[in-house]
Amino acid sequence: MAVTQIVEPGELIGPVNVDRIAHGGHGVARHDGRVVFVRHAVPGEQVMVRVTDTSHDRYWSGDAVTVLMASEHRVEPGCVISGPGGCGGCDFQHISPDHQRELKRQVVAEQLDRLAGLDWDGIVEEGPTGAGDGVAWRTRTRWFGAGEAWGLRAHHSHRVVPLPAEGCQIALAGPPTTSGRVADVTLASDGSRTETIDDVRVSGTSPVVQRADGRDHWVAADGFWQVHPRAADILVAAVIDGLQPEVGERAVDLYCGVGLFAGALDARGLKVWGVEAGWSAIELARRNVPGATFRAGRVERSLAKLPADVDLVVLDPPRKGARRPVMEAVLALAPRRIAYVACDPSALARDLAIAAEHGWRAAGIRAFDLFPMTHHVECVAVLEPRHRSQ
Ligand SMILES: C[S@@+](CC[C@H](N)C(=O)[O-])C[C@H]1O[C@@H](n2cnc3c(N)ncnc32)[C@H](O)[C@@H]1O
Repeated sequence: MAVTQIVEPGELIGPVNVDRIAHGGHGVARHDGRVVFVRHAVPGEQVMVRVTDTSHDRYWSGDAVTVLMASEHRVEPGCVISGPGGCGGCDFQHISPDHQRELKRQVVAEQLDRLAGLDWDGIVEEGPTGAGDGVAWRTRTRWFGAGEAWGLRAHHSHRVVPLPAEGCQIALAGPPTTSGRVADVTLASDGSRTETIDDVRVSGTSPVVQRADGRDHWVAADGFWQVHPRAADILVAAVIDGLQPEVGERAVDLYCGVGLFAGALDARGLKVWGVEAGWSAIELARRNVPGATFRAGRVERSLAKLPADVDLVVLDPPRKGARRPVMEAVLALAPRRIAYVACDPSALARDLAIAAEHGWRAAGIRAFDLFPMTHHVECVAVLEPRHRSQ
């Protein structure tokens, strides 16, 4: 159908039917022959949409502002700023926890099918909460000054949305108590200890201790660590279970941060090398895992300097994935197995497709709900050479 309507951001369109969930947590609808990505809806609903972005030829984006026919999976959000125009953090608060996981499962399956040709029949494991309510878990939060109050940023925006009186539902601890005008801070906590840092003094940040796999890890308050208090343990268990490391083997931990997986492999009697771009993270990794050898640098420039004969590789890249040059260099090392930890199922699927081109198969792919109330999902894939499984 020809696209006829001229619509500006801020206009209301609809009713539209939200058919399915897309990567990124948006519902997919159609209006006047065009795809509309809709936040704050549940697939199966009929909604009116306030258009937020018309800058793309092939699709628009918008927020569901009126629900005409509600899904059975819609619930009352616990937070008053989680809806349209509110904080950009929790985009799934209006969906029951079980159905949040079902939607994430659909996204992982769709990405693996479309981008890697894989037929995945796994589930998104409940993992961290057990109780299923998905609140009070976030150990690392960036709080923004909103005059004399604290706030959180709106979706894809620098606009600060003031915190409601009840605070943030998913944060483990609230922002510091202050009087007068407040400045932006990042707050990191291990549940018992809290470190607050002033945005302009990030380099002077004192580290916090995070416990995982039975060991303490020093982490800068603004450095990378999994945000759910149980996530590091869950991911280490999945990686170790997938790799089945043996005493005396040689392993490489790429994008190693402060040495979470390097430490787990070192503790199981392996000789380990780690690579990480952040200098301060590498300094802490050396302190956390004195038995391993760490190299500060970009993975893509460091692979040639690692030992050629490694048995196991852990890849835990940032959101964009490892990408072709790194994947091909890692596969060329011909390890026994690779564990790939991914926060974006689409980047994972693209990298798995590259591995498949080179004769590798995914021996297992698990998905975990480590970010309840949001569309985010974490996956662990275990790769092995295809000939080994035949
Ligand atoms: C998802 S985090 C994983 C950290 C660690 N494995 C953990 O679980 O705590 C990704 C890490 O990759 C690092 N990084 C990003 N791009 C990189 C690159 N090109 N080369 C090396 N490290 C990189 C980031 O600094 C970050 O520490």
